[in-house]
Amino acid sequence: MDYQIALLGGDGIGPEVIAQAARVLERVGTAFGHSFVFKPALIGGCAIDATGSALPDETLAACRSADAVLLGAVGGPKWDNPTATVRPEQGLLGIRKGLGLYANLRPVKMNEMLIGASTIKPEVLRGTDLVVVRELTGGIYFGERGRRDDGNTAYDTMIYSRAEIERVLHTAFRLARQRRGKVTSVDKANVLESSRLWRETATIVAKAYPDVAFEHLLVDACAMHLIRRPATFDVIVTENMFGDILTDEASMLAGSMGMLPSASLAEGTLGLYEPIHGSAPDIAGQGIANPVGAILSAALLLRLSLGLEQEALAVERAVDQVLAEGYRTRDIAENASEVITTTVMGDLICERVTA
Ligand code: IPM
Ligand code: MG
Repeated sequence: MDYQIALLGGDGIGPEVIAQAARVLERVGTAFGHSFVFKPALIGGCAIDATGSALPDETLAACRSADAVLLGAVGGPKWDNPTATVRPEQGLLGIRKGLGLYANLRPVKMNEMLIGASTIKPEVLRGTDLVVVRELTGGIYFGERGRRDDGNTAYDTMIYSRAEIERVLHTAFRLARQRRGKVTSVDKANVLESSRLWRETATIVAKAYPDVAFEHLLVDACAMHLIRRPATFDVIVTENMFGDILTDEASMLAGSMGMLPSASLAEGTLGLYEPIHGSAPDIAGQGIANPVGAILSAALLLRLSLGLEQEALAVERAVDQVLAEGYRTRDIAENASEVITTTVMGDLICERVTA
């Protein structure tokens, strides 16, 4: 089969890690007899520099006509002016909304080989294997916002419809059925009206999945339990901003943000896949970034948008193998002498991808 992949490197280390993920897909193509056609497009700061917009129309069009989108990261100090009206992050928010990517899956699996790289005690981490399903196109990120009183008062609005809550809850329950069968719905229903609607809706949706264990948890308690008993979670589902915060916290359970992939899904098979780390401007251009998060995102792309499970597993196995052999990029290395570069990590993983 021929697959069209939109390639949005973005800023900072984004293009460096996406280049490795694309090489791994090419290698998958050779090993399994597929062909991937890559369509590069601009997003974020580099798009602002070239076109004045963080999300040019051509980029959105390229994504819409592709089978899947692979994205690096956006942003950097160059565009970090709080008063600017055009910001790299608008590219990311715009593409999520524009493609209807309402369900963001962020798996966090503790890798036994990297247990020493986390700041959390091994006995707490052991067995951690969870997925946060973050609602991605609603909530306070997209509600009405503004200033009044001559700019001296500011407001943002957390707003959700029942339909928006329902569809992401269904994603979480379907996912739990393929995993360990447990959903934790996270809200702040003791304070927020949008959370009371969330909780009410989640309770109703849960009734359709009697085979899945279900619980509600307040977001502050969830933040605590994530580092107290992370191995007890399976699927956590929550609204946009709670999910943003909890997934940064949860990423530390895996040792390094550089390791973690994500998938953002719409209705149908189109999806956007990106490592959860940012553009890391401090290390950009040095060839030392960890491409594993991007490469594992490509594995999710194979699995969730293209339905190529064997191919996805081949990539995940190759990553595990390279780590088991002791190869480390700087962010996960316990001593500096063993450190390899972004490209070498990509080479080693490619070599180990076999049908
Ligand atoms: C993320 C990021 C984005 C978000 C930023 C860059 C807009 O933190 O993907 O988690 O807040 O959603
Ligand atoms: Mg975030």
